[in-house]
Amino acid sequence: MNRISILLCLVHLFVTHSYSCSNNGFYGTYCNISCPINCRDNTCDQGNGNCDNCFYKIHCDTPCPTNCKDNSCHFDYGTCYECKPGWTGTTCIIKCREGWFGERCNHQCSGHCRDNMICNYVTGHCERGCSLGWTGYRCEKECEDGTFGYECTNKCSGHCLDDSPCNKRTGICDIGCSPGYINSDCGTECSTGYFGMNCSENCSGHCVNNESCDHVTGVCFNGCQDGYIGARCDNICKKGYYGKNCSLVCSPNCKTCRHMDGLCSCKAGWMGPNCTTECVWSFGENCQYPCGGYCIDQRCDRFNGSCLYGNCTLGTQQNDDSKHITPVTIAFIVGLSASVIVNIVAIGSFLLELRIHSKYMENRNCQCCDCWFNLHIEERITTEGLLYTNI
Ligand SMILES: *[C@@H]1O[C@H](CO)[C@@H](O)[C@H](O)[C@H]1NC(C)=O
Ligand SMILES: *[C@@H]1O[C@H](CO)[C@@H](O)[C@H](O)[C@H]1NC(C)=O
Ligand SMILES: *[C@@H]1O[C@H](CO)[C@@H](O)[C@H](O)[C@H]1NC(C)=O
Ligand SMILES: *[C@@H]1O[C@H](CO)[C@@H](O)[C@H](O)[C@H]1NC(C)=O
Ligand SMILES: *[C@@H]1O[C@H](CO)[C@@H](O)[C@H](O)[C@H]1NC(C)=O
Ligand SMILES: *[C@@H]1O[C@H](CO)[C@@H](O)[C@H](O)[C@H]1NC(C)=O
Ligand SMILES: *[C@@H]1O[C@H](CO)[C@@H](O)[C@H](O)[C@H]1NC(C)=O
Ligand SMILES: *[C@@H]1O[C@H](CO)[C@@H](O)[C@H](O)[C@H]1NC(C)=O
Repeated sequence: MNRISILLCLVHLFVTHSYSCSNNGFYGTYCNISCPINCRDNTCDQGNGNCDNCFYKIHCDTPCPTNCKDNSCHFDYGTCYECKPGWTGTTCIIKCREGWFGERCNHQCSGHCRDNMICNYVTGHCERGCSLGWTGYRCEKECEDGTFGYECTNKCSGHCLDDSPCNKRTGICDIGCSPGYINSDCGTECSTGYFGMNCSENCSGHCVNNESCDHVTGVCFNGCQDGYIGARCDNICKKGYYGKNCSLVCSPNCKTCRHMDGLCSCKAGWMGPNCTTECVWSFGENCQYPCGGYCIDQRCDRFNGSCLYGNCTLGTQQNDDSKHITPVTIAFIVGLSASVIVNIVAIGSFLLELRIHSKYMENRNCQCCDCWFNLHIEERITTEGLLYTNI
């Protein structure tokens, strides 16, 4: 009998010992039954599963409200000490009000969720992404300078005035473009022939080979056309210079000198393309005036036209031809009148003779000099012949 008692006792000891489960949260012979949900420290009686100590209510069969933080609530009232993020109220069954999220609902949404969506009440996340110009999990980060658009995936042109960043929503340069660029986003270079602020300045048009100027500065990269100078080739050569780089000197006898090619208009006394030829029998700018017929030898000062060797002595009469010619002419007319009746055919030759003769008479008034010189070549020759034959 005694031996049996001892055996039972050992069995009992073994069984009792086996009730101490090594896994917290389980009980039963095989330690495979879960303790009630609400046991403190997640431990219960290994034999019957009773909680010694519950979070809420003695029998431990009512869990704390779902959203109590750390699953802990008041033992008697079941109110949460604190709520999980996103919840509020004594039992944490109220979601954060719109626009707020997280722990104690005291975090405000960024307000930059796409399409004015509200952010997630727990995390603050904008579930459909951010509105233009914003990025980040909660759309709390503005696009960095130089980027814009949804999630800041677009790059600004980089040509806004004063290197300012473009508008982070639209990419537009709100304060305008830096010189050389145009359009709302300043992404377009000035078109050919224009440069500068708003592309409102014209290139000089005098770059060498008609090249276009730099769209930013207006500078001609490869130099200027002949006759122009300056970085933009917008100046003509200063007076007295012409040609490539304005490096050629105009002839000193030029009155005006074309800045492109040095083509001259000459000072008095000079003629020729470079004004290097002196006037002969003429005077004035570009030798445009013939020396006066009254000058001896028809030579005159090439600058002011005064006769070099003096005037014909009877020069005063020279221009007074009518007085002398008139009677002669009358005589001829009388003669001619007679001739017409006699021989009509002779008229032409008589007229010719009349003309030559009057010239001769004219020249006869000029006693000192070769006034015939002043006649046109063919007349001179004719008159010369006349003179030689008549004298
Ligand atoms: C525990 O284990 C025993 C023996 O393996 C089994 O019969 C019983 O069904 C199990 N109980 C549970 C709740 O798994
Ligand atoms: C460029 O254009 C803008 C807008 O039209 C204007 O406000 C600004 O004065 C212009 N600037 C120049 C230098 O023309
Ligand atoms: C630019 O050139 C155009 C035509 O060639 C002219 O009408 C305009 O006045 C010029 N603008 C300036 C600023 O010179
Ligand atoms: C430059 O342009 C002008 C007028 O458009 C033209 O007459 C001239 O031949 C051009 N010169 C060159 C080198 O292309
Ligand atoms: C033009 O002249 C300037 C100054 O006189 C000089 O520095 C420059 O080298 C010249 N350029 C050419 C292409 O001759
Ligand atoms: C004019 O002068 C330039 C340089 O002085 C010279 O190269 C050119 O041949 C001259 N032209 C004439 C027609 O004499
Ligand atoms: C013309 O020039 C010459 C030589 O320089 C001078 O002697 C003469 O007085 C001038 N004549 C007139 C009318 O100016
Ligand atoms: C020569 O004749 C011209 C024209 O008749 C006159 O103007 C000028 O004064 C004269 N000169 C002299 C030196 O007589």
